[in-house]
Amino acid sequence: MAKKSNQTNQLLRISDLSAKELKSLLDKAYRSFKAKKIVRRRGAPLPVGLVFAESSTRTRVSFERAARSLGMEPYLLESSSSSLAKGEDLTDTVLNLKALGIENFVVRTASTEQLLALRKLSVGVLNGGDGVGEHPSQALLDLLCLLKHCKGSWKRLLALKLTIVGNLSHSRVANSWIALAQTLGLQLCLVSPKGWAPAQKTPYWTDDLKKGLAGADVVMALRVQNERLSEGGSGVNLEDYIKRYQVDQRLLAGRPLMHPGPINWGVELAETLRDYENSLILDQVRCGLYLRATLLNELIASRQKQS
Ligand code: CP
Repeated sequence: MAKKSNQTNQLLRISDLSAKELKSLLDKAYRSFKAKKIVRRRGAPLPVGLVFAESSTRTRVSFERAARSLGMEPYLLESSSSSLAKGEDLTDTVLNLKALGIENFVVRTASTEQLLALRKLSVGVLNGGDGVGEHPSQALLDLLCLLKHCKGSWKRLLALKLTIVGNLSHSRVANSWIALAQTLGLQLCLVSPKGWAPAQKTPYWTDDLKKGLAGADVVMALRVQNERLSEGGSGVNLEDYIKRYQVDQRLLAGRPLMHPGPINWGVELAETLRDYENSLILDQVRCGLYLRATLLNELIASRQKQS
């Protein structure tokens, strides 16, 4: 894993992986998903630290389930019940756990700076989402869900157009998707009001929903991140957003719907979509288990090869 970065075995950014490594990883996860099988690792259970300094449901539980299915020993640290609550930084937390024999980690943090500081340490790290930085495992599980939708065919996947609508300026998922599209040459369109445009300049972005949805095969909505809206005046009014950008049945016109969760029903998605028949949302969650098991497995295998 992360051979491209030629550093420690860490996946902090999608750009840590080459196109070849990404495809190989996804093919392995797809085979595991299809067989509904996660093969337990041989030997004594390896510990893995799940350091979650921000709240999470899907990412935490799927990494924990994946680790247990592989026969690993997960140690969960949450900000509310660990010394992170007393202000201990991530580097110190990880170094202390390493002294206790834990050398591989999944980390979620609000601080991109603290996450990237882990590059200096000789430990395995998978990014479980950093502030408004990136969320590589989410974008990869989304891609696995699309690969499954395309019956495992990269040719079909590369011909498919995905349109993502939402609060892009605060979205770590969108940032990972931009990097994925660049690396693999995927057809991506990003739609938001001007005030929520992606922080980085990207040719994929438009504020015109009609234009963005034209020719889209799959639509993904992103959460309006109420907890981050106070970080700088975007000028976006929530009621206006709902009127102009909320995804509903009419806009979807039967197309598959994705959302990384958690969902604000009645905000980015119309309430009427709760029972939408072409929803892939829970399929994304199912894919998360197999994708994250593959990530953990690759991380351990690659570190063992090095030592
Ligand atoms: N999509 C996602 O990261 O969900 P959680 O915050 O619940 O982990």
